[in-house]
Amino acid sequence: MKTIEWLGDKIRIIDQTKLPEKTVFVELCDYAEVAAAIKEMKVRGAPAIGVAAAYGVALGAQKMRAESKDKFLSQFDQILQTFSAARPTAVNLFRAIDRMRLAATESEDPVKIRQILIDEARRIHAEEEVATERLSHLGAELIGDGFTILTHCNTGSLATAGYGTALGIIKAAKERGKKIDVIATETRPLLQGARLTAWELVQENIPTTLITDSMAGYFMSRGKVSCVIVGADRIAANGDTANKIGTYTLAVLAAENGVPFYVAAPTSTIDLSLSSGAEIPIEERNPEEVTHIGGARLAPQGTKAANPAFDVTPHYYITAIITEKGTVTEPYEFRLSKLLEEAI
Ligand code: MRU
Repeated sequence: MKTIEWLGDKIRIIDQTKLPEKTVFVELCDYAEVAAAIKEMKVRGAPAIGVAAAYGVALGAQKMRAESKDKFLSQFDQILQTFSAARPTAVNLFRAIDRMRLAATESEDPVKIRQILIDEARRIHAEEEVATERLSHLGAELIGDGFTILTHCNTGSLATAGYGTALGIIKAAKERGKKIDVIATETRPLLQGARLTAWELVQENIPTTLITDSMAGYFMSRGKVSCVIVGADRIAANGDTANKIGTYTLAVLAAENGVPFYVAAPTSTIDLSLSSGAEIPIEERNPEEVTHIGGARLAPQGTKAANPAFDVTPHYYITAIITEKGTVTEPYEFRLSKLLEEAI
């Protein structure tokens, strides 16, 4: 299933907020609609956000009527700024925006620039497809027959507009004929695990047990988890990794219980400009996502709630980082920068 698709004068996405009850595809005809879809998490997951933003920027450029390059670039800058403000944590968004900004400088002719931007957005999408499939097959080598893999949030086709990262590894292990079981955390507050990961795994026919986030320690302490695999929204130069809120808790529990803890991400998620996770901007979302579920109020009126959408797992809790260019272990500082220099 194509979760994000460029249709020439619009973009079609699957609306992730409607899953699993309804499979709804929406057509976005304007760049502001694409940026809003990212903000509202109709499209979510680090690589998917980058792909959607790239197509959104290309779409915005098609609708601009500026004839001179200067006018074109000043209107274009407005589009880039709109996407930059959509969500702060996943670096894939900013990497895609930077690539689109650079692509727009490749010609003096706005007509040509419009085509260059479409080509660049398609390239970003294709690269994520190749990278996520490749890292999934590399990661599958770490999975033994009979493993039970615990995963958090949603990291499949929905989140990547490709094969998946943590969930991609699970799919690739199954494709290789390994007998595996999955424990999926529900992932409060927005329930990406319960709604989206469970939906993808049911379709893949992979045996899955859904648990609440707070049950993870119980299962790890009883020896029921062979390894934890999660995705990433941004990996700093020292290996510290921002991912969905609750990931840090899982990493500490994994270390306490001697369970390997893997991070799976394309290299587009690595941000060498930040020396450590302390510099990663963490998105604060509407507290209503905590006081309510699916629009229904849980907590009494007047309850104060906090809603950081991500946390940072220190590098020393991470057994290995799995990318399309290879799997790296400590010392991350040196090995991640070396990895980025390598060709795929
Ligand atoms: O807030 P979300 O749902 O966009 O957060 C998504 C995650 O944290 C994923 O684990 C991450 O983007 C990796 S997706 C392959």
